[in-house]
Amino acid sequence: MTHHHQFDAVIVGAGGAGLMAALQAARLTNVAVISKMYPTRSHTGTAQGGIAAPLGNMEEDHWEWYMYDTVKGGDYLVDQDAAEILARESVEAIYELEHMGLPFDRTQEGRIEQRRFGGHTREYGKGPVMRSCKSADRTGHMILQTLYQNCIKHNVRFFDEFFVADVLVHEGVARGVVAVEIATGELHLFHAKAVLLASGGFGRMFAVTSNAHSLTGEPVAALYRRGLPLEDMEFFQFHPTGIYKMGILLSEAARGEGGVLLNGRGERFLENYAPTLMDLAPRDMLSRFIYQEVAAGRGVDGKDYVHLDIRPETINRYGSAPGGRTVTAAELEEKLPDIIEMMRVYMGVEPMREPVPIQPTAHYAMGGIPTDNDGRVLAGPTRTVSGLYAAGECACVSVHGANRLGTNSLVDLVVFGRRGGKALGEFCRRADYAPLPPRAEAEAQGALDELRASRGGERVATLRSELQRVMMDKVGVFRKAAGMREALSAVRGLKERYTQIGLDDRGAAFNTDLLEAFELGALLDLAEVTAASALQRTESRGAHYRDDFPERDDTHWLKHTFAYRSEGGDVRPTRGEVRFETKPVVVTRFEPKPRTY
Ligand code: FUM
Repeated sequence: MTHHHQFDAVIVGAGGAGLMAALQAARLTNVAVISKMYPTRSHTGTAQGGIAAPLGNMEEDHWEWYMYDTVKGGDYLVDQDAAEILARESVEAIYELEHMGLPFDRTQEGRIEQRRFGGHTREYGKGPVMRSCKSADRTGHMILQTLYQNCIKHNVRFFDEFFVADVLVHEGVARGVVAVEIATGELHLFHAKAVLLASGGFGRMFAVTSNAHSLTGEPVAALYRRGLPLEDMEFFQFHPTGIYKMGILLSEAARGEGGVLLNGRGERFLENYAPTLMDLAPRDMLSRFIYQEVAAGRGVDGKDYVHLDIRPETINRYGSAPGGRTVTAAELEEKLPDIIEMMRVYMGVEPMREPVPIQPTAHYAMGGIPTDNDGRVLAGPTRTVSGLYAAGECACVSVHGANRLGTNSLVDLVVFGRRGGKALGEFCRRADYAPLPPRAEAEAQGALDELRASRGGERVATLRSELQRVMMDKVGVFRKAAGMREALSAVRGLKERYTQIGLDDRGAAFNTDLLEAFELGALLDLAEVTAASALQRTESRGAHYRDDFPERDDTHWLKHTFAYRSEGGDVRPTRGEVRFETKPVVVTRFEPKPRTY
């Protein structure tokens, strides 16, 4: 049985971008939010260190400096019109959150307190600046709670624990989505005037990742399967400080407060790589430098990790806290309560007395669903899809270019979630419902029934770990053609084997066997696009580093990748090749320059 719903605006995802968009749209129209998780468990809740805005509360700061850092941090692949919007509107967005009740940390004078974060500088790169607004190391959690409460206040309707099986885009017009209610297994058809996707990232394609298990990208894959492009998928960020082997994030805030990275010899190795910003250089670089130390045999005990050291005695010895001031254990416990707890619980390490083993962890997709600056989804470099919007990590504005700065995901969520939500709401006020095609849910229903009935010998968990391993090893921090070809062929082999999977649970209620199988299909498609996009970009830029093309090549590659499936298709995983087009990068104020820190 299919349940039918009609809402002017349907938003997929209840993280920061989805909730911010819902809140804005709800002031103009009626809105439903469909979320795979209970909203306050969305992954935004794990964002720790902060949200940038050049408030200048601690020291001088300007939106132009912030824009410059974002563009340079993104290795000049950033669309600069979008970066200007981000830098300017961040201030207003922070005050809006404050007025909604977000409990930011405060200075003695009662202003929003700010801290340093990687790649954020004063005077166009002269030294670190305190720009990140925060609530201890629970900033994302506070944003999520604040936005959710405000959405409830504005009568947003929530469909919790539903996963999206299809996005209905017919003849170039968005018409709704098909979703499965996880508790019952029943299908729900949502007819809408407009749809906004804010489903977050898809980092579960990698073996070591900070991403939650739910981040598998079904709505993103759904658009790709329906023939829409994905932009800049080759750029996947590795955060330098994940808990060793587990990948759980240890916020850059630890280094913002003075923590340092040390190699196996106890040396502060970043002095040799990024003498100005050191531990606060951008993430793409730090992740590479850690790999380089390990490759040179300077990992800890000859292993593949280094140390994050936040012991007060270490910070005080190096004078690495902001302004070189002395820090105490009590102060660190107050500023970094969650990550200190994680170090204790997950690693069994006492961070006030010993350093913590860390390694780079797959963290953030810079690429995704291409949009304009108001969240409208692009069908090609110059065309939009009527009634279809995207915001947050699943989208590519492109404000992060080839490498996102820390804190800029939360800024992106609120700034572009806000713009997307407003545009969506206004669209709904003027548009009529485009009719649904007959039996609009039939394809999704067919694909799910097939999966549920599958009796082959391949196991979803086995295919998923093979996928994660090959992506980590061959399409990770360092890449080269042979490895990426191997990965691509492995992913295609896994797609073949995916047609032979067998599920044990054939039931309807809470069938997580079915959900995981469906998620794996999406991950396989997105991994294929990631590997193919990386292989075709014959340069190194930001998070995409190729041993065989180690230089940035602005002559040939100062452009965005648009990847499409090569054959028309349906809601199932794709077959065939990936086809590419390109789109020029918008350069307004800052001409590309070599990137040093
Ligand atoms: O390190 C962190 O707190 C992560 C922040 C981010 O990804 O923006």
